[in-house]
Amino acid sequence: VAIGSRAGADPVPFQLGVPAFDEFPARIWERLERARWRAGGMQLGEGDPAGDPALRVAIAEYVVSARGARCSFDQVIVTSGTQQSLDLAARLLLDPGDAAWIEDPAYPGAVATLRASGADIVPVPVDADGLDVAAGERRRPRARMAYVTPSHQFPLGVVMSASRRLALLAWARDANAWIFEDDYDSEFRYGGRPLPCLQGLDAESAPAGSTRVLYAGTFNKTLAHGLRVGYLIVPDQLADPLRAARVATTGQPPALHQGALADFIGEGHYARHLRRLRGIYEERQRALLEGADEVLSGRLTLEPDGAGLHLVGRLAGGADDVAVAKAARRAGVEVYPLSSFAVDAAAAPEPGLLLGYAPFDRIAIRRGLRRLRGVL
Ligand SMILES: Cc1ncc(COP(=O)(O)O)c(C=O)c1O
Repeated sequence: VAIGSRAGADPVPFQLGVPAFDEFPARIWERLERARWRAGGMQLGEGDPAGDPALRVAIAEYVVSARGARCSFDQVIVTSGTQQSLDLAARLLLDPGDAAWIEDPAYPGAVATLRASGADIVPVPVDADGLDVAAGERRRPRARMAYVTPSHQFPLGVVMSASRRLALLAWARDANAWIFEDDYDSEFRYGGRPLPCLQGLDAESAPAGSTRVLYAGTFNKTLAHGLRVGYLIVPDQLADPLRAARVATTGQPPALHQGALADFIGEGHYARHLRRLRGIYEERQRALLEGADEVLSGRLTLEPDGAGLHLVGRLAGGADDVAVAKAARRAGVEVYPLSSFAVDAAAAPEPGLLLGYAPFDRIAIRRGLRRLRGVL
């Protein structure tokens, strides 16, 4: 499943991984970049390998206030996004053959990155409370890493319960394992206060110098996925090694983008942008739910979701979701078979489809649904 990879400037309904391009604050961005150019040639140099210090300060303040994280700016490493954050973490922390738990079903990009690092992937089922920690312990108690999406499990949308979070932290401390927290959708929560991130819970309860959580956030979903800026917040003891790993492997995103982004956050535009997008995306989710109700007449059952940029629709038992998705693509609609997100093919979830809604207005949603009705 290649999420977002085929997205040009004009995404096809119901493509995933694509934000609302037309809401990108282009005018403000242009002004901030111009001001950076005028200020001098700083953006032509490479700077600190961990990223622009001003941006790292802005990120640290944001995750502390918005996500309940506990960190200082020197724990922040700017990356090109979550994919690179996981790649760096896996290269540094895993040796070939080390076991790594991954949620099942999971984000395919995470599976691919862990596989590429030579890890021995251990699929761990997800239930209504999130990753089933006890099942992971039965399968591979001494794994070196666990990849999780606790705020909004991808693709199912489950929020990891407080007791599971505590169980996962207890396991990681006991097994000396790392937890990679992918907080990919946390900015888009519609009503209700989100649970603070796992990183904050870990830092609050672990003795100094023994935290286990690496936290990944991204601007590629909140601003534009072509921007390629994200961040990794690492335990103190990993800050220097990760900085060295960054020097030895990849460079950082362009200094110009980092500087403009630091100003964008610092001047309050980011908070305003998120507030506006939340309203737009919530409305689009409602349009998709209402439209599906009217247009699809029960052929696909969509459940509302309190967060995120996609919905999961259930097909009748026994349906072949891969065949439906292929036929849909021929009809000009992009939907994603739930079964294809299974890590262990023998434990595939019930047939279903993922529908992204972020870049589509009410009219595009209706058009997509009518095409999908023909396919179903
Ligand atoms: C669950 C999840 N994690 C990570 C990513 C990738 O984020 P980035 O574009 O910052 O690499 C995505 C992108 O769609 C995602 O769905």
